[in-house]
Amino acid sequence: MTTLAILTAAGSGTRLGFDLPKALVPLRGLPLVLHAARRLTASGVVDALVVTAPNGLVSVMSDVLEHDPHVSVPVVVVAGGTTRQSSVAAGLTRARADIDTVVVHDAARPLAPAAMIRRVVETVKAGHQAVIPGLPVMDTVKILAPRGPVEDARGALPAGVERVASTPARTLLRAVQTPQAFDRALLVRAHSAGAARARTEATAATDDASLVEALGEDVFVVDGDELAMKVTTARDFYYIEKLLTEDGR
Ligand code: CTP
Ligand code: MG
Repeated sequence: MTTLAILTAAGSGTRLGFDLPKALVPLRGLPLVLHAARRLTASGVVDALVVTAPNGLVSVMSDVLEHDPHVSVPVVVVAGGTTRQSSVAAGLTRARADIDTVVVHDAARPLAPAAMIRRVVETVKAGHQAVIPGLPVMDTVKILAPRGPVEDARGALPAGVERVASTPARTLLRAVQTPQAFDRALLVRAHSAGAARARTEATAATDDASLVEALGEDVFVVDGDELAMKVTTARDFYYIEKLLTEDGR
């Protein structure tokens, strides 16, 4: 059994607001993408790596990854697409014929621990074809009534005011992370079916599991890890710097 990791690193990091694409921002001296690539390698369950780079930065990204002594698996860098979904699809086209399992991971989650990477990949290898890590949700979450003719018929709402439609049971909610692992054929099928719906950031899937769900196939959740939190804003970045120090790595 051979596993490919697609490491998404083609985003611009607009919400982080630094003057570099997010994946290249140094965390304790190492670019985020390199932290993530090292952990994928250290998991021992990843045989090859495809990294998506921002347009025009393929060779910069290659330089970062190819000369790192801790990234001991073959690395291919490809130009990403305009959405995360299309970046993953671009990465998938570079999977060698012998790959049967694909794990998709975000460079924006640089500290996802090796044990967690093993957990999702091994659960796929044990026969569950789509496996994602998730954490219990601490806040009560509300689902809003969609804006549209039905909502308007109830009376116009002022700007900044939304009506609540329902409250899902918190015990049934999970905040999901990456890495997400899949049987290769299933992930390819999910991306082919999802490609038509993904023209813009607003319509593209924000994770790969939702494309599998859209096929009507089962997706399974295993325990996530706080260390796998995503760096979106500057506050996340400073928090993760602190986590890294406490984690001793
Ligand atoms: N990503 C990608 N290709 C894109 C957009 C995003 O490979 N066209 C990757 C990012 O590099 C990141 C992951 O998908 O590792 C999650 O995306 P996000 O956190 O939204 O990162 P950015 O798109 O870089 O950030 P922002 O949305 O604030 O610009
Ligand atoms: Mg983004």
